[in-house]
Amino acid sequence: MVASGNRVLELDGITKSFGGVRAVDGASFHVDGGEVVCLLGDNGAGKSTLVKIITGVHTPDSGQMSINGELIKRWNPARARDAGVQTVFQDRSLAGRQTVARNIFMGRELTTRFGLIDDKRQEAEAEALLRGVGFTSKALSARSEVLNLSGGERQGIAIARAMHFAARLLILDEPTESMSLTQIRLTLGFTRAARDRGIAVLLISHNIADAYAVGDRFLVLDRGRVLETFHKSEISEGELVRFMEHANADSAGTGSRTTSERQTTQESSA
Ligand SMILES: Nc1ncnc2c1ncn2[C@@H]1O[C@H](COP(=O)(O)OP(=O)(O)OP(=O)(O)O)[C@@H](O)[C@H]1O
Ligand SMILES: [Mg+2]
Repeated sequence: MVASGNRVLELDGITKSFGGVRAVDGASFHVDGGEVVCLLGDNGAGKSTLVKIITGVHTPDSGQMSINGELIKRWNPARARDAGVQTVFQDRSLAGRQTVARNIFMGRELTTRFGLIDDKRQEAEAEALLRGVGFTSKALSARSEVLNLSGGERQGIAIARAMHFAARLLILDEPTESMSLTQIRLTLGFTRAARDRGIAVLLISHNIADAYAVGDRFLVLDRGRVLETFHKSEISEGELVRFMEHANADSAGTGSRTTSERQTTQESSA
């Protein structure tokens, strides 16, 4: 087992509400360096909200969080980045009107000695990075505007960026959504490679087969709480699928947020 000295992320009793909706309701868990932890759960279980709390996009209402053993006080996306946290968000945080290269280096621009963005160097490095991760297509170059790219291509860029900069914690929220089989295979390969480099990985996926293929531990989130934790050695893929089907059916029957309620809250946030 990994020593607790290697604890990269620890959450303790985190809660977050949006208006009347308790998106996260006392979530506690940890991720160590060198393991892939999969966060599983039905739509609306609070997975993406947790990701946004960990990355400093949302401030939790209560609870504690530590990164690299340090209690987090004032957290924001820039600090999370500086602490070595890289995230591929489900809603893909790429700037559409900017080039692929600008997107990859956003927030950590390569500059000329006059302090201007060095587009040439960024484009060369972005090309190398994209080739390195194998996310290539005829249409895709470092100078393409992100606006014109397909969903899978955008996802590839977000992943290339996260893989390149992740130092301690890599968070992937539904990374394989809208990807081709080749891209999925590459993404799962990088996930393993990051783990083998000692990085802590938090993976969110609705695809249990993908999650099971790379995951070391599985956390089942239900209405904002960790319902169950499994080590891979404790459960087969088939058992995990059945467990998730039952968990989802149970929460659907016992007053979990209905689809219409969720749509209303999402619309009000848009
Ligand atoms: N910014 C927001 N404003 C209002 N409600 C929100 C906001 N973000 C999330 N919610 C609500 O919080 C709940 C949890 O949402 P969240 O996106 O974390 O779920 P999820 O587990 O990621 O679901 P999915 O699997 O569909 O991605 C949902 O009911 C959602 O509508
Ligand atoms: Mg989500």
